[in-house]
Formats: sequence, C-alpha cells, structure tokens
Amino acid sequence: MTSYSTSPADRPRQDVGIALTAGGVSVWLRITDSGMPVVLHWGAELPVPTADDLRAADEGSLMVRDQNGMDVPFRVSVLPETGTGYQGRPGLIGHRDSIAWSPRWRVTSVDVDGREPLDGLIVAGAGVVTVLAEDEEAHLQASIVLELLPSGLLRLRAVITNTGDETYDIALLVPRLPVPDRAVELLDFAGRWSDERRPQRLPFAVGTHLREARHGRTGADSAFVLHAGTAGFTFDAGEVWGVHVAWSGNHVHLAELTSAGQRHLGGGELPLPGEIALGHDESYASPWLYGTYGVGLDEAASRFHEYLRSRPQHPDPRRPVTLNVWEAVYFDHRVDRLIALADRAASIGVERFVLDDGWFGARRNDWAGLGDWVVSEDVYPDGLGPLVDHVTGLGMQFGLWFEPEMVNPDSDVAREHPEWVMQVPGRLPPEARHQQVLNLSIPDAYAHVRDQMVALLDAYDIAYIKWDHNRDLVEAGNLVEGGLASVHAQTLAVYRLMDELKAHRPGLEIESCSSGGARIDLAVMERCERVWVSDCSDPVERQRMHRWTTQLLPPEMLGSHVASAQSTTTGRTHELSFRAATALFGHFGIEWDLAHVSESELAELQTWIRVYKALRPLLFTGRVVRIDLSDPLAYFHGVVSSDRTRAVYSLAAADRPLTSTWGRLRFAGLDPDRRYRVRPHLPAHDLATEPGLQAPAWFGNAERDSYAGAEFTGAYLSRVGLQAPSMYPERALLFLVRAV
Ligand code: GLA
Repeated sequence: MTSYSTSPADRPRQDVGIALTAGGVSVWLRITDSGMPVVLHWGAELPVPTADDLRAADEGSLMVRDQNGMDVPFRVSVLPETGTGYQGRPGLIGHRDSIAWSPRWRVTSVDVDGREPLDGLIVAGAGVVTVLAEDEEAHLQASIVLELLPSGLLRLRAVITNTGDETYDIALLVPRLPVPDRAVELLDFAGRWSDERRPQRLPFAVGTHLREARHGRTGADSAFVLHAGTAGFTFDAGEVWGVHVAWSGNHVHLAELTSAGQRHLGGGELPLPGEIALGHDESYASPWLYGTYGVGLDEAASRFHEYLRSRPQHPDPRRPVTLNVWEAVYFDHRVDRLIALADRAASIGVERFVLDDGWFGARRNDWAGLGDWVVSEDVYPDGLGPLVDHVTGLGMQFGLWFEPEMVNPDSDVAREHPEWVMQVPGRLPPEARHQQVLNLSIPDAYAHVRDQMVALLDAYDIAYIKWDHNRDLVEAGNLVEGGLASVHAQTLAVYRLMDELKAHRPGLEIESCSSGGARIDLAVMERCERVWVSDCSDPVERQRMHRWTTQLLPPEMLGSHVASAQSTTTGRTHELSFRAATALFGHFGIEWDLAHVSESELAELQTWIRVYKALRPLLFTGRVVRIDLSDPLAYFHGVVSSDRTRAVYSLAAADRPLTSTWGRLRFAGLDPDRRYRVRPHLPAHDLATEPGLQAPAWFGNAERDSYAGAEFTGAYLSRVGLQAPSMYPERALLFLVRAV
C-alpha cells in the first residue's frame, strides 16, 4: 500500500488540496504535478479538512490495480487523459497535423480567488479555483476554472491555448465531474416540437450514455439537465447530481461508467469539423458545465434558481402580465383590430403587449419576407407609431417579435445577398418552415441585421423583444469562406447581437423562443429574461413541461399563457380555470383573441390576473416544491416563500386517478415548527358549486365558512399530508397556505 509522507521534501513538487464549501455543498480537489485536478468529493457538506485529510481522501478513493490493467492505478481527472491509462472518452480530443493528440498535463500554478496554497492547502467558501497546466511537448497550455457559487452550484470550464506554430484542431473538449458508485440511475430529457422536456429514466450502465445535440440550437430534445442519483431518487429524497451545458449551439451531455468502475458526468460543445482550429497563441474555452447536487431534485433545482436570482440582471419579480398576439391574429395584422385587442387587454390588467410575426416586409404568411426587418407599409401605412403609442398610452409596454437569424428565400435580403445564407458550396440546405438561416458570423450580414433592429429600437418605444429561431441548422456552412462550418461562430454572433442590442437600449428584455422551447440553456439566459416554454399551451401538457423546465429555470422565466379553450396543438378543450391555474405558476400572459371572449370569461380572466399580481412576489422569490403522488396522472406542486410564512400549491388532475382520489397531499417545504392555515381556492369560482368537486372534511363547511380550510402544523402538513379532494379530470385547484 502506498502511504503519503507528511514531510514536504518527499511530496511531489505540486501537491495541493483544495476544499470549498458553500450552500451546503463541499468540493474537494487534489492537484499534483502528474496531471489535471481530481475531484475527490462533490456533494454533501463535509467538515473542513487538513492537507493530510485530503491526501488521505485521495488514497482512500484510489482504485485497486486492475488485474491485467495499468501497473499504477490512475485517477480520472476533470479532463481525463488517455496517457494515464484511462480508456474512456478523453477530456480533450484534438491534434496538430496528427500529432500532439494525447496531452499529458503538468500543473504549473493553482490558486483560489488569487490566493495561493499555504502548506499545500487552500480552504474557502464559495470561490474560483484556477489551475494552469502545460504540455511542453505538445505545445499546449490549459487552464481549468472551477467555481463554487454561493448557492452550492458548481461550474467548470477548460481553456486550451495552442502555443505551437501550426494550427491545433480541437474535436471535443468535455470536462467531467465524478459521481459516486451509489449514483445508479440516470434522468434526463427527450422532447420534440410542442412536447418539450419529457423526462426519461434509465439505469447508469457500463458504457457511455451520450446525448448529442446537433440542431445548431439547444434543441427541443436537449438532455437539458443530465442527472445521476441514488436508486429511486424523487423530488425530495435520494441524492442526485446533475450537469447542464451552457451553450446554445451543438453540444453533448454524457454519463460514463467505465469498465474499471469510474462514474462521471460531463458536457461541452460538439464542434463541427474544423470549427475549433487554433492558430498560434489562440485559445478556446469550453462552455460552462454547471453541476448541481441535492437531496432530491427540488434541492438540485433550487441551486440553479438561487444562482439565477442572485445575478444583477435578473428581472424584478413583478413580471408584467403579457398579451402576445400570435394565436389571436396570426398573420392578420390590421391596426384597428390590434388596437381593439390592446384596449381589451389593458381593461383587464394586461401590462405588456407583444406584436408577433407578420409586421414586417412581405411577411403576410410564412412563405415570404422573413429577414426584412422593416415595417410593412401594406399593413402599417403610418409605421408602427400609432399602435405603439396607443399601447404605451394605455400604460402597457410594447414588445416586438424578431427572428434575426432567419430568412425566407423570398425576401429582399436573401435576394440581395444569397451568399449570406448558410450552406455548403453547390447546394442549399432543405428548407424548414420555408426558411433558411442567415449567417450572422459574416460581418456584413451581422451589421445589416443589427442596423435594421437598432433602427426600430430607436424609432419606437420597444421594451421587449420576442427573439425566435424556428428551424434547425443543416449544413450550416459559410459560403463567403468556402463553406466553412459555422454553428460555433453563429452561436457566438447571436450572443454578441443580443448583448449589443441590450447595451444600445438599456432595460430591453429579450425572450428566448425557438419554435417554442428549443433554445433554453444558461448561456442564452445570461442575456434573456424569459423563455417561451412551448408552442403547446394545452394545460395538461404544460403541467408536465413546467414541472420539468423548473429543473433549470425559476418560474418567473417561464413564459406561460392562457390560450383559447381548444388547444391549437392538441385539439383538447379545457375550462378557463384549468388553463389559468396552470399559467399562474409562470410568467403569466395571454395568447388568445380577446375579441371573441365572452364577458363572463373576460371577467374571470381579470380575476386571475388580479390573483397573479397578488401572488407574483411570492411565486417569483419563493422556493419551488414538486411532490410525487402515488399516481403520476396528477401534478401537485407549489412555491413556499423564503421565510416559510406563506405558500401556494396547486393540484392539477391530468386524468382520473387509479383509486377514488389522489390520496394524501404532502405540503412539502413548510416549516415543521410553525402552524399554518390551508385554504382551498379557485379564483372566480365558488367551490361549493364547483362541478365534480367532492370536498374532504378538512375543507370545512361550504355554507358556514365557504371552505375556510383548517389549521395544521407544518410537520404534519409536510410529512403526513391532507386528503385530496375528488375532482373532475383536467381541472385544477389552488391551496393558499399562511402561517398563523
Ligand atoms: C414560433 C413561435 C410562436 C410564434 C411563431 C410565429 O412558432 O414559437 O410563438 O411566434 O413562431 O411565426
């Protein structure tokens, strides 16, 4: 057995232990000069170690020599190296003229927030670890940046610099985070248009679970957050580790279990051939790989929420009630019709009015005009001024739809600059929704789109952009440069354009929409305040999508609208109360032609808007809790205020239960030491006469106190729970909870 001497003279030249602890999470690293940093522990908080503790932990975690394996057992680092004997997918795959393809790193410096190790140890709370390494033979330098954020969220990236004279080609740079042996199950997401973020669970088996996304956008089927956890982990039980790649272009998430028994999660960009070709002294940084740990999925999600909410640019919780005109008018843009819609919207309390697709160029349908960001004189003879002024005059903000990366072949821009359309020489990609992609990595194309957008921001009081992206990138080459693959460059150009527009118009908000929810990741969310979760507003589907989209984003970032009774994507028809109770737990809005809404429905919608306005400070600062019922056909979830004095929960039945009711409702997240009153509630409805509702005894008396609910301890509510009512399928009910 190897043993570590404590005598400094015997130690390797570089032998540093690092222990970070924040938000109930500890991360221990050991760095020796024989390779990249090794994560010894990522998970539950541990007591502060000494340097010897860390060395002992390293020894304690070193695997036995595999019979017929390497004579010296190796560690899997944050950037696994094949030269150690590791035979899984390398952290860096690259070469320079077919050599320098297997770098062996020698660490040259280590610091945490600029602090260097003292006696081989750095102990910190939240902090940024920077490790510099080089391979002199391969003429490469690397820096590993690992940051533990105050919420306990971890993020990691690698930066590779080519110090050689010839180009170094990187095919893959995928940092890793290890998970322990007890993480035996995986959870990630599948999806498609109007059906985003469907969870899938599978065993963590030997081999690689590889989720490659090659859409040129994040994708409706992106792995989103790839989790590994202890058997049967739920929202509030079992340990779980999850990773997310903050990148809106091609990317990969992976979970690997080697035959030697090492388990790790990883993710990075998935460059197209030749996209990352580093000249002398050029560098490439992998996107941030975020890592979250929790006891239960709720805790894992809350670290993302806390991080996002801590950023200075995070929007105020008073998210304005939004009316988006798409499903109200589609391409039928008539100023008088839109003004009447705005009047109705304002009269019921709408605060933001968004003009969707169809206001520009020859865009009278989806065959023409896309890419010409000039107000159509056919439909707006006096420009957008009269509509914008009317909307802002009613006290609402005005928002405008763009799809800056896209063109119809039948557009002025595509006719004048066919070379700006992404393609490989000699052929165009197949059209999707009659459109092609404009290459914003071509400086002139970028300037053209930016200038057209800036001109509109300058001309009108536009507070908000709905930024759409409605097709996958296929054969996304740059014709101006001989067909060079350019998803990577396009992704960076889009970020740059968003940043530039925001700098130009301070306070401008951007919504990330991509055929619904196909561009949701933490890189685009550095520049966007909200996402359009899906083109599907059917509440049955939205209950599931919201449940899972909150695994990454807090509710205030989820665009969530009340649409027409009959869903345009599923054909199902639902009560207004079910649609509104579902939309309530996101950034609330309307996607419905209010001109054809009855007075009674309008009055009910107005009540829901009032309820949303009263609840948004709680909904958008509190903690999201999701509770598994024994029957998965109903959704029970809520938000608990940060001081745990208030909460709102919702029970939404997607179908009929297997047994006569949904069983006990556990009001998770409440303070066990307080007492609370729980009151059932359905805005604008009298529960005593609600069709199909059978109230359990604890609801109280309908006549005497109109179901005032009852008082219980937080311990009882969260651990034992209350009987659910019996209700019709495709209905929802709220529960308002207050400490007494
Ligand atoms: C996409 C969006 C919709 C709408 C249309 C307009 O499908 O997801 O919300 O904006 O484009 O063409």
